[in-house]
Amino acid sequence: MKIGIIGAGVIANKISQTLRERWSHMLYAVASRDLARAQDFAQRNGFVRAYSSFEELVSDPQVDIVYVATPHSHHYAHARLAIEHGKAVICEKAFTANAREAEELILQARKHNVFLMEALWTRFMPITRRIREVLDSGIVGCPRLVSASLCWSMTQVPRISRADLCGGALLDLGVYCLNFADMFIDGNITGITSNVVKGGEDVDWTSTASLLYDNGCIANVQSSACCYQDKRGIIGCENGRIEVDAVNWPKQVTVYDASGKMIDQWGIPSDQVSGYEYEFLAAQEALDNGWIEHPLMPHDATLRLMKVMDTLRQQWGVTYPNDTNL
Ligand SMILES: NC(=O)c1ccc[n+]([C@@H]2O[C@H](COP(=O)([O-])OP(=O)(O)OC[C@H]3O[C@@H](n4cnc5c(N)ncnc54)[C@H](OP(=O)(O)O)[C@@H]3O)[C@@H](O)[C@H]2O)c1
Repeated sequence: MKIGIIGAGVIANKISQTLRERWSHMLYAVASRDLARAQDFAQRNGFVRAYSSFEELVSDPQVDIVYVATPHSHHYAHARLAIEHGKAVICEKAFTANAREAEELILQARKHNVFLMEALWTRFMPITRRIREVLDSGIVGCPRLVSASLCWSMTQVPRISRADLCGGALLDLGVYCLNFADMFIDGNITGITSNVVKGGEDVDWTSTASLLYDNGCIANVQSSACCYQDKRGIIGCENGRIEVDAVNWPKQVTVYDASGKMIDQWGIPSDQVSGYEYEFLAAQEALDNGWIEHPLMPHDATLRLMKVMDTLRQQWGVTYPNDTNL
């Protein structure tokens, strides 16, 4: 599987370093708006081709899968370009600016019969997947109250402060908290209440949201782009609780029984590189099997997350230029 990355920024660097350590033969092409930047990126990270046009990258017959690593505002356009050229796509989180764009991308993937997956990397990690096994074993009972928090002070970052880049904390950080709840609560959302403080170009800086589910579960999630706070996720169950140290990059999970006694604890596999490698294993599995979605990050889950984020932005009056584009 040869990868072509669109965008030569922070996350493109991180995944390239991971792939270089594990599967350097996958590193094939990178495209940036600036040829010198693409060439520099390619040279530093061991890529074979550097393009200054995204069109050229998706037209390269050697590219098997395109990794969209641009700001949220451009995910739809870049993923669609790749799909229309028959390329499989892994697209960074948040998947798109809104649910409408997500629906359209999924339709296009089905039409062109190509694999499409949101790069919500925590879903693919062994450390996370074992949580599901514990829940399914019944040892702590059913989840009833899930909380998740992710805060990182970064209002100075343009793609966080600018509305035209689909900024705000929700799409960048809050999506991990919503995803945490989505992974472990099996019910349907019947109500959402929330609070927000806005900043930058009228985007969400800090927010809290409470999601009510039809199976008697509540999820409380919070995210902020202007402070440092808790990153934990806690799954409160009838007979105990499961604590995850960081919802965006878990390194330790602890299970407690009803008396508060620790009954299980685990960390990351000893051979884990960074954690990004598992989404590529999933993509490879999907390509090998001719799947257009992966069961660990199905299209329905992506759509659920986008719809919740649409609802929250509606409650807050946070709008993006993308909202009127489709
Ligand atoms: N999974 C994770 O752990 C993780 C971590 C961080 C970020 N992310 C996600 O990755 C994505 C990118 O984040 P990042 O931190 O890598 O962002 P970034 O470094 O600010 O930008 C990524 C690249 O996007 C391109 N870009 C920027 N503005 C653009 C524009 N107006 N039009 C077209 N291209 C533009 C730039 O590439 P060129 O200048 O080379 O054209 C830039 O280097 C976001 O969706 C973010 O949520 C994921």
